[in-house]
Amino acid sequence: MTDEHEITPWDVSDTFQEAQYERVATEFGAKIIDDHLKDEIRDLAGEVHRFIQYGIFFAHRDLDQLLDGYRKGRKFYLYTGRGPSGKMHLGHLIPFMFTKWLQERFDVDLIIQITDDEKYIFRDTSQEELEKYTRSNILDILSLGFKPEKTHILVDSKNSGLLYNYGIKVAKHITASTVKSVFGLKDSDNIGKFFFTSIQSVPAFIVSAITGHNVPCLIPYAIDQDPHFKISRDILPKLGYEKPASIISKFIPSLKGSGKMSSSDESSGIYLDDDSKTIKRKLMKYAFSGGRDTMEEQRRLGANPDVDFAFNTYRMLEPDMAKASKIYEEYRSGQILSGEMKMIAYEKITGFFETLNSRRDTVMKNMDDYMFNPDRFR
Ligand code: TYM
Repeated sequence: MTDEHEITPWDVSDTFQEAQYERVATEFGAKIIDDHLKDEIRDLAGEVHRFIQYGIFFAHRDLDQLLDGYRKGRKFYLYTGRGPSGKMHLGHLIPFMFTKWLQERFDVDLIIQITDDEKYIFRDTSQEELEKYTRSNILDILSLGFKPEKTHILVDSKNSGLLYNYGIKVAKHITASTVKSVFGLKDSDNIGKFFFTSIQSVPAFIVSAITGHNVPCLIPYAIDQDPHFKISRDILPKLGYEKPASIISKFIPSLKGSGKMSSSDESSGIYLDDDSKTIKRKLMKYAFSGGRDTMEEQRRLGANPDVDFAFNTYRMLEPDMAKASKIYEEYRSGQILSGEMKMIAYEKITGFFETLNSRRDTVMKNMDDYMFNPDRFR
C-alpha cells in the first residue's frame, strides 16, 4: 500500500463533520451498509441493532462475506479494543455496547485487546498511571455484561511474549512509508509508533494461529481505527490468514457538539465515573442544544434533535426505538423544551450508570475468569 491519502480516517476525531464520514470511509475502501446487508443481519440476528438503524454503525469491510459464511455454518469470533489512556466516556462505550449485542445474537467468542503499550508510546502517560486505567477501563467494559465464558481480555503488557512473536511477522511486511501515509507519522516520531500497528493486528488472526485453522474475525470499531485494519487486511493473507471483516461507526460528538471528547477537558464529555450531580450540571451547562433560544420560539418553531447532545445520548441508550421516535417528534415540534430534553437524557444516563455500577462488584471478583488464555481456544 503506497498510495498517499490527503485525509485518512485516522484524522476523524479532531476534524470530521457528519457529511464527511461516508466519503472518507468509501475513499479508504470500506463499503456503506446498504438495505440488502441490513436484511441479511435481520435474518441472521433476529433484528437490526438500533445503532445500525440510526446510521451510527454505517460502513463495513467484507461483513457480507462473513455473514454468508456464518449462514453456511462457519462461526466467526469478534475482536475489539480499548487504549486505556484515561477515564472512559460514553462515546467509548458505543463499540462495546454494539459488540455485546453481536456476541449475544451470534453466540460467539470475543477478544478485547487493551493496548496499554500503545498509550505508553503515543501519550505522555506513565506506566503506573496506565496500569490504574487499565484496571478501571476493563471494569467499565465488563460491567456492560459480556458472557464470561466467551470473553477474553488481552492486555498487551501482560501478553507481550505472545503478541511480540506474532507482531514481528506482521511488522516484517509493513514499510515505514505505509505507516507514515496512513497515520501521518513523521521522521521525528518515536519508532514505537511505527511498530505499534503490528501489535493491533495480532488479535485479528490469533485464534487462527492458536487453533491451526482459519477462523473468520469480525472487528467493530469507530472509523479512527480503520487504518490499522486496512493494513491488517493487506498483510494477513501474506501470512496465510484470512482478511478480517469489520463494522465501522461514526464518532459520538462531544458535549459541546463538535470536537473530541477528551479526558483532559472534563466539560467535553460524560465520563463513566461522573456522579448524578455532575451529569446534571454538565448537561445543563455545556450540552449542545438543538433547541431555540427562548421558550416561545421553541414552542412555535421546535428543535433540531439531530444535532442535540441530550437527544442523541438519550436515543443511544433507549432500546425502545418507538419511544425514542415519539420523543424525537415531540422535541422537534416544540412540545418538549430543551431543558426538559436534558432531563429526559439525565434520567436515561443515570439509570444506565446504575445498572453498570450494580454489576461492578461481581465483575471485579471474577475478573480473572475473563483474562485471555490461549488454552481456552484449543
Ligand atoms: P480507544 O481507546 O481510543 O477507543 C476505544 C473504542 O472507542 C471508539 N471511540 C468512539 N466511538 C464513538 N464515539 C466516540 N467519541 C469514540 N471515541 C473512541 C474507538 O474507535 C474504539 O473502537 N487503538 C485502540 C484500541 C484497540 C482497538 C482494537 C479498538 C486495539 N484493538 C480493535 C477497536 C478494535 C484505541 O486506542 O481505542
